[in-house]
Amino acid sequence: MLPPRNLHNVALIGFMGTGKSSVGRLVADALHFTFLDTDRVIEARAGKTIREIFEQEGEPAFRELERRIVEELARRNKTVISTGGGLPANEANLASLKTHALVVCLWASPETIFERVRGQNHRPLLNDPDPLGQIRRLLTEREPYYRQADVLVNTGLRPLREVAGQVIHQFRLSQHG
Ligand code: S3P
Repeated sequence: MLPPRNLHNVALIGFMGTGKSSVGRLVADALHFTFLDTDRVIEARAGKTIREIFEQEGEPAFRELERRIVEELARRNKTVISTGGGLPANEANLASLKTHALVVCLWASPETIFERVRGQNHRPLLNDPDPLGQIRRLLTEREPYYRQADVLVNTGLRPLREVAGQVIHQFRLSQHG
């Protein structure tokens, strides 16, 4: 049997461009929680942008930095964690988040994601001649992980404030279950 979960954090997972950081900040403000973005922690520690880490050290090195942060997150309390899009595509990372956080996946269609990220160039994985095709490929590959979230919220049809409201509602429910 799985050990009982003590959910004192919120973890937002989901593809690039689904609004994890913006929603995460709104949720943290409303709950009076600390906001933490795993990508920003990695950049601050490395003293480089994500793009530079991918270029100079490669994706496996970046994933290792993510893995270490996930371990540390287990010690956090009252924190809203916004995760990099690929972080939960790893069973151990996902399992670890689930021990302390309500895991919420923000979902959007490939077309919506494409509209949101086009024109931005800080995401190395979308630096591809066919970004929409790449989004479709990665989303298909990651869907089985994203679907393991406790809650799935479609972000395509609603403003971020409303998405944040849903996350807050689900977290409050999880506290009274
Ligand atoms: C990645 C998503 C990015 C960042 C890195 C890799 C991914 O984060 O971690 O570029 O693998 O999907 P966002 O989801 O915050 O853009």
